[in-house]
Amino acid sequence: KSCVLAYSGGLDTSVILGWLQDQGYEVHAVYVDLGQPCEDRAATLKKAQDAGAKSARIVDVREELCRDFAFPVLSWQAKYESIYLLGTSIARPLISKVMLEVAREVGATAYAHGATGKGNDQCRFQLAAEALDPSIEMIAPWRIKEFRDLFPGRTELIAYCEEKGIPVKASSAKPYSSDENVLHISYEAGQLEDLTVNGVELVDFGMTVSPQAAPDNPEEVTIDFEAGVPIALNGKKVSALEMVESLNEIGGRNGIGRIDMIENRFVGMKSRGVYEAPGMTVLYDALLNIEQLTLDRDLVRLRDKLAVEVSEMVYYGFWYTPKFDALLAFINEARKPVTGSVTLQLYKGNIIVSSRQSPNSLYDEEIATMEGGGSYNQDDAEGFLRIHGLPSRVQGRVSPRPY
Ligand code: ARG
Ligand code: SIN
Repeated sequence: KSCVLAYSGGLDTSVILGWLQDQGYEVHAVYVDLGQPCEDRAATLKKAQDAGAKSARIVDVREELCRDFAFPVLSWQAKYESIYLLGTSIARPLISKVMLEVAREVGATAYAHGATGKGNDQCRFQLAAEALDPSIEMIAPWRIKEFRDLFPGRTELIAYCEEKGIPVKASSAKPYSSDENVLHISYEAGQLEDLTVNGVELVDFGMTVSPQAAPDNPEEVTIDFEAGVPIALNGKKVSALEMVESLNEIGGRNGIGRIDMIENRFVGMKSRGVYEAPGMTVLYDALLNIEQLTLDRDLVRLRDKLAVEVSEMVYYGFWYTPKFDALLAFINEARKPVTGSVTLQLYKGNIIVSSRQSPNSLYDEEIATMEGGGSYNQDDAEGFLRIHGLPSRVQGRVSPRPY
C-alpha cells in the first residue's frame, strides 16, 4: 500500500508519517510550499527521509496560490462572515491538487493529512481531493479512534518520536495554534478559546505591527489593476506573488489587516479566530476603489449578493464543483472593465484613498456636478418619482399609516 502525506515537518505530521508506516503504508511525504516559514528546507526533507519516508519533496505553489486562487476570490470581494479573507481556506484545495499530482506520479492510492475531525480543513482537503480523484482513499488519522487513543496528548506524540528516533524540535508550545501562508496567518485554539482573553494582546503577530506602533506619517502606495487583476505596484510591474509579498511588508509595517472574530465552522461549531492579512487587506480596498469607478451598478449588486455564497463555498471547501466553475466564469466576465490605478494612504491600521483613475471610468463629472448647468436635467426627476411613488400613494390611501 502506498500513500501521499501532506507533511509540514511539525510534530503531528511527523508522528502520522511513522504511524502510517506502522499501518503498512509506504509513505511519500509532500511539503507544499505556500509561503509558510521554513527555516531549513533541506533539513525538513531529511527529517521525512530519516523517519522512513519512501520519498520526500517540496512543491512550491506560492505563485499559483496568489494568481489562480487568491486573486479570483479577491475579484469576488469575498469575505467569510463579512470579514475573514479566507487565507487558509483558499490554500487547501491547491494542497489537495498537488497531493494528487504526486500520488499519480508515485502510484499512491491514499492521501493522508493531519487535520482534525473538528475543523474546516478536513472538509476542504477531502472535498477537493474526492472531486479530483473519486477513487482516492482519504486517511485522516485524527478521525480514527485508535490513533486518538494512542496519542491523547502532546506528551505521547513526543514520546513516539523519541522512540522512533524522529527529531522533534524543542519548540516551546505556543499558547495557540496557527496556520501561515503568503496570504495570511491565522491564530486559534489554546488560550484564544477563552473569550475574555484579548486576542490581539495575546497573539505574537508575525506579519503586522500594532497600529499604535506604526509610523506617525501615512505611507502612500499606488496599485494598478488590469481587468480586475493587480499588476503593478508603485509603477513597477510585479508578479502575483511579488504583489502580495510586497504589500504584506508595506501593509504590515502600517498595522493593516488584523481581525478577531467568532466564526461558524462548516461542522457547525462557533470558533474564535484571530487573523492578520496585511497585503490582501490592502488589495481588497484598492480593488474596490477601481470597481466603484468602472462597474455597472446592477452588476455590482449581483456580484455582492453572490459573493456571500462564494465565500461560503471557499470556506466549506467546494472549490472543484460545477457551481464554482460557473462562478469563476462569471467573475472573469464581470471584472473585465476593472482597469485603473489607485493611490492609497496607509496610516496606523487605516486605509484612506488619495486618488483613483481609470480609462473605463463611468464617473461623469458633467453629469455629477452640483454646479449649475451640466447634462443632468432635474425636470426628469419629477416623473421618476411619480412612477416610483405610485404604489406608496395607493397604499397610503387604502390603509393610512399612523404617524
Ligand atoms: N478558521 C480558519 C479557517 O477555517 C483558519 C483555520 C486554520 N487551520 C489550521 N490548521 N490552523 O479557514
Ligand atoms: C483543524 O482542526 O485541523 C484546524 C482547524 C480547522 O480546520 O478549522
